[in-house]
Amino acid sequence: MITATTLDALRAQVRGWRQAGQRVAFVPTMGNLHAGHYSLVTLARQHADRVVASVFVNPTQFGPNEDFDRYPRTPEADAQGLDEVGCDLLWLPSVETMYPLGVASAVRMRVPGVTEVLDGAHRPGHFDGVATVVARLFNQVLPDVAIFGRKDYQQLAVIQHMARDLAFPIEIVGAEIKRDDDGLAMSSRNQYLSADERATAPVIHRVLQAMRDAALQGQARGDIERNATRALERAGFVPDYAVLRTPAFAEPVDGEPGPRVVLVAARLGRTRLIDNLEFELR
Ligand code: PAJ
Repeated sequence: MITATTLDALRAQVRGWRQAGQRVAFVPTMGNLHAGHYSLVTLARQHADRVVASVFVNPTQFGPNEDFDRYPRTPEADAQGLDEVGCDLLWLPSVETMYPLGVASAVRMRVPGVTEVLDGAHRPGHFDGVATVVARLFNQVLPDVAIFGRKDYQQLAVIQHMARDLAFPIEIVGAEIKRDDDGLAMSSRNQYLSADERATAPVIHRVLQAMRDAALQGQARGDIERNATRALERAGFVPDYAVLRTPAFAEPVDGEPGPRVVLVAARLGRTRLIDNLEFELR
C-alpha cells in the first residue's frame, strides 16, 4: 500500500491509474479503524480496480462540546489494517492540506432539509461539516465510486443529496452495517463505554428490532416511538430520538406500505450511540 501525505503525490498516483483505464473507489474515514470500516474497503474492491482510503479527523464536523480532541487516533494500526485488507493507497492529509486557507476561511457546504432533522437537529452544523470535508476529499481523490456505511444512515443521505445536486461524477454506494455478535453496531466510539455500558449497549439493536416488528404488525407510529423511548430509558439510556421514518425522513402514514427505517440515537453515560434498521412495509 502506498501512503500519500501531499496532494501532488495523491494526484500523480490516481492519475496514473485512471490513464491506465482503471476504476478507482474511495472510502473516507476518520481512522481508528474496525471491521466495519474494513468491510467498506472489501466492498470497494468489488466496485473498482483500485481502492483509496482516507484517514482524516475533520475538525469542521465536531461541535464545540464534542470529542474532536479525544477522538481516538491510531495511525499505525490503521495503516497496517488497510494494507492487509487490500487497500492500494492511504490518503493522509494534514489539516493544512485539507483547509489550505485556514478553517476560519474555508468555503463551507450548506445542505438544506436533510441536515435539519434527527442527528442534524441534535448536532447543529455537523452534517454541513461532513459535506464540507467530503466535497474536498472528492475533489482531491477524484474517484469513480465512493463507499459510505449505512450505519450513518443520515450521513449517507446528505452525501447523496450533495453529490446529486453538485453533479459530482461519482457513484455513491451504501454498505451494510457491521455488528458485533451481540448486535451492537461497530463504532470507534464503542471503546468509550465502560464494561457495564458495553453490556447494555446492544439494547439499542434489540429496541430497533422491536420497533420494526411492531411496525410490521401494524402498530401506530406514535406507540412504536413511545415504547422504544421508554425501553431505552429503562435500560439506562438518555435517548435523543427513537423514530420510524420513510427513507426521506418523512413521518409515514400509519398502514401505508413502502420502505421504512427505524433510527435511534441515545446517550449511555458520556457516549452517544446511533443505529438504524431498514425494512419494507407491505
Ligand atoms: P467514520 O466514523 O470513521 O466512518 C467512516 C465510514 O465507515 C462511514 O461511511 C461510516 O458509515 C462507516 N462505518 C462506521 N461504522 C460502520 C459499521 N459498523 N458498519 C458499516 N459501516 C460503518 O463517517 C465518518 O467517519 C466521517 O463523517 C467521514 C465521512 C469520513 C467525513 O469526515
